[in-house]
Amino acid sequence: MNASTPLIRVQGVTKTFFGKGEDVTPLENLDLEITQGDFVALMGPSGSGKTTLLHLLAGIDKPTSGTIDIGGTSVSTLGARALAQWRNRHVGFVFQQYNLVPVLTARENVELPLLLGKLSSAERTHKVDVALEAVGLADRATHLPRQLSGGQQQRVAVARAIVAGPELILADEPTGNLDHKAATAILDLLKELHQRFGQTLVMVTHDPRAAAAAERVIHLDKGRIAADERSEVSQ
Ligand SMILES: Nc1ncnc2c1ncn2[C@@H]1O[C@H](COP(=O)(O)OP(=O)(O)OP(=O)(O)O)[C@@H](O)[C@H]1O
Ligand SMILES: [Mg+2]
Repeated sequence: MNASTPLIRVQGVTKTFFGKGEDVTPLENLDLEITQGDFVALMGPSGSGKTTLLHLLAGIDKPTSGTIDIGGTSVSTLGARALAQWRNRHVGFVFQQYNLVPVLTARENVELPLLLGKLSSAERTHKVDVALEAVGLADRATHLPRQLSGGQQQRVAVARAIVAGPELILADEPTGNLDHKAATAILDLLKELHQRFGQTLVMVTHDPRAAAAAERVIHLDKGRIAADERSEVSQ
């Protein structure tokens, strides 16, 4: 694939949540392409469908109608098992709340996505070491999440997201729970990893600094794209 190939193709996607009360349609007839290797910030008011879109891209949820194609895989039509396998190989997800397993050490948390694969224990150890090194936490490998600061826990979560070498990193307000300094550090880390490994990065954020770091900023409003701006890349 060359630099301008779309990695992600969202076509006519509508998502409706059917509930006991009123149905909610956070995304309506959405069309979107994201280029391989791009760094995209997804912004918009609370409730505008940002998390919903990220979950659809990750195959965590399915569209009500429309199609999502990622790297030639039609993720909107895959069955549950195939989808789980695809996600494990191709997507790294970073949550606002870190979502680390509390009884596992940093190293064990990072190793989790590799356990579904066929790597030997030595190969897994090597990959975990590389990922922990990349996020600057090699010296915290045996700590439990509660023994780490919020910023460090999010670093572990980033290491877990990159350890299997996915081509797509999806991050949902990864700095939302962090103070200014830790948020800047996580942002710098994601930017650095994106530049170093060339992964496509789609990050939901309310932080203007995060948006400034991105190459493209998409504003969602009421389930539609309200603005779509490409910025000069800030280093
Ligand atoms: N599982 C669900 N069931 C029912 N409604 C849902 C579900 N998930 C999201 N919604 C609704 O869809 C709309 C969009 O939610 P979403 O979480 O995508 O917003 P968001 O843009 O991420 O907001 P925020 O900035 O607050 O995180 C909201 O009205 C929400 O209540
Ligand atoms: Mg959200």
